[in-house]
Amino acid sequence: MFELPSLSYGYDSLRGFVGEELMKFHHDKHHQTYVDKLNAVVDANPELKGRLVEDLLVNINGLPISAQVGIRNHGGGHYNHSLFWQCLSPKGGGQPTGELLNLITNKYGSFQGFVDEFTTKSLGVFGSGWVWLQPNGEIITTANQDTPIAQGLDAPLLCLDVWEHAYYLDYKNKRDDYVRAWWSVVDWENAAKRYQTFLDK
Ligand SMILES: [Fe+2]
Repeated sequence: MFELPSLSYGYDSLRGFVGEELMKFHHDKHHQTYVDKLNAVVDANPELKGRLVEDLLVNINGLPISAQVGIRNHGGGHYNHSLFWQCLSPKGGGQPTGELLNLITNKYGSFQGFVDEFTTKSLGVFGSGWVWLQPNGEIITTANQDTPIAQGLDAPLLCLDVWEHAYYLDYKNKRDDYVRAWWSVVDWENAAKRYQTFLDK
């Protein structure tokens, strides 16, 4: 059975970004619901038992038709949120270093150029969705709980949740303020580890 991953930091430790109540709702309610519904899909399709969520998403077109929508929405919701929590840290912010900084500056001219482009894409997502930094340096967006690996793309380095449930409690409709605050908690060390895994493969 899939389980809600615990956070490596406190619910109240990202206050420059979002407060304790929002973090609790987002993790304990929203993410938990994706986990519960993903488990229900697997219960209804026992041949999927024991497979990793990444494996289900990468091979989604080969799954039973009856499972595909559920895996896409709830498997995606579980995968996306699990990665999102790892992109945040109370000690985050600043800039990446090394190979990851090179990737970004080669593509966007400067770190600020990257921030500006990522912010523009975040504000351009209509309705609910996600923004991703891919290992080729591209910034892409997905709708709903769609995820890059289910579209045949590489595992992302970084993601930002731009569903209203991710910010409404603290920011109301001001997605731009939420995105601006996010940069202060981005865990670049974890993103660099994911980039190294990509480079090593
Ligand atoms: Fe979310």
